[in-house]
Amino acid sequence: MKPLIIGDLEVKLPLIQGGMGVGVSLSSLAGAVAFEGGVGVISTAQIGFYRPDFNKNPLEANLKAIEEQVKRAKEIGRGGVIGANIMVAGRNYKEYVTAAVKAGVDLIISGAGLPTELPAYVKDAKVKLAPIVSSEKAAKLLCRMWDKRHHCTPDLVIVEGPMAGGHLGFSKEQLKPFSEKNDEEIRRMMADYDGEIEKIIQVCETYGEKYNKNIPVVVAGGIDSHEKVQHCLNLGASGIQVATPFVATEECDAHPNFKKAYVEATSEDVVILNSPVGMPGRGIRNTFLKNIEEGHRGKIHCRQCLEHCDPATIPYCITDALIRSVQGDVENGLVFCGAEVDKIKKISTVHEVIESLFISE
Ligand SMILES: Cc1cc2nc3c(=O)[nH]c(=O)nc-3n(C[C@H](O)[C@H](O)[C@H](O)COP(=O)(O)O)c2cc1C
Repeated sequence: MKPLIIGDLEVKLPLIQGGMGVGVSLSSLAGAVAFEGGVGVISTAQIGFYRPDFNKNPLEANLKAIEEQVKRAKEIGRGGVIGANIMVAGRNYKEYVTAAVKAGVDLIISGAGLPTELPAYVKDAKVKLAPIVSSEKAAKLLCRMWDKRHHCTPDLVIVEGPMAGGHLGFSKEQLKPFSEKNDEEIRRMMADYDGEIEKIIQVCETYGEKYNKNIPVVVAGGIDSHEKVQHCLNLGASGIQVATPFVATEECDAHPNFKKAYVEATSEDVVILNSPVGMPGRGIRNTFLKNIEEGHRGKIHCRQCLEHCDPATIPYCITDALIRSVQGDVENGLVFCGAEVDKIKKISTVHEVIESLFISE
């Protein structure tokens, strides 16, 4: 397997562990992946939830937690590569970027919106910048904006497809085959999406040529076998980003109940849901989602986490729902997952997941 080269940063394995908020990918998981030779990624989304000062001052708690978690991940990773996943849709985006740079992450990955101002926030820091896109249109738009406004290009681009977990950069209409569990349509959609990946690779080549640099493209969403890794590399990708399979590992930072929910989930349990972030998401159907569907609305204690969120009209608070599940209340919280969660049959280790991705059976 060729390493993943991001400018002057060499990652032994062409693997990025997808950032997972809230609290699913913190220092234990990220450190373990970095130690094995991939990029370990901490999600900064409401990262300070475990701190006693979180309810009183969430921003302060989150900034301190970024420092704590990056430091610990680096210790566990022993020189391995550590990244931070920072959601564009979140409030105080700039502060989180600054804190991650100060904590010394090697890479910043940003999705759930286009990180149009990211280069201005990191200034001359050596940190590598990796936007997440789901379409050629978004890739072109972002590259054009960075070129015009900031005179630079991304160091790496992550293409997140429709099989991914968490928030999805597709409309509910586009995701219909998944809600309807139409396997034939899903197969067709994924074959079409290969073409989209190839077009995004071309966009990166064009902008790479202009700046005389190579912009590697990393593919994410539903990659859980050596065969799928090979498929992505054959399309011309330089690596893969994987999240769902890493949840059911001993090292993952989520509560054991969260991991158990993954092991027990069937394909019928996986649904496309509406999120207050304003994008569809994918998760495991449970009491919480049934209640929301029936119009129940819990109390909302706003911590001002999102840039565009109106507590008066949203069906639920995403921060509270994600914190409940990561702390073990998987019936009354929101459990995000990828489309292939039903393939997970047991709790394993980070080492075993990586072996299954890179060694053919
Ligand atoms: C539990 C969970 C939480 C996630 N949270 C985030 C997040 O906070 N920010 C983000 O950019 N992506 C998030 N994702 C998406 C992953 O980083 C990743 O790109 C995607 O899930 C890859 O597909 P896979 O899970 O099928 O491997 C999340 C995914 C899961 C499963």
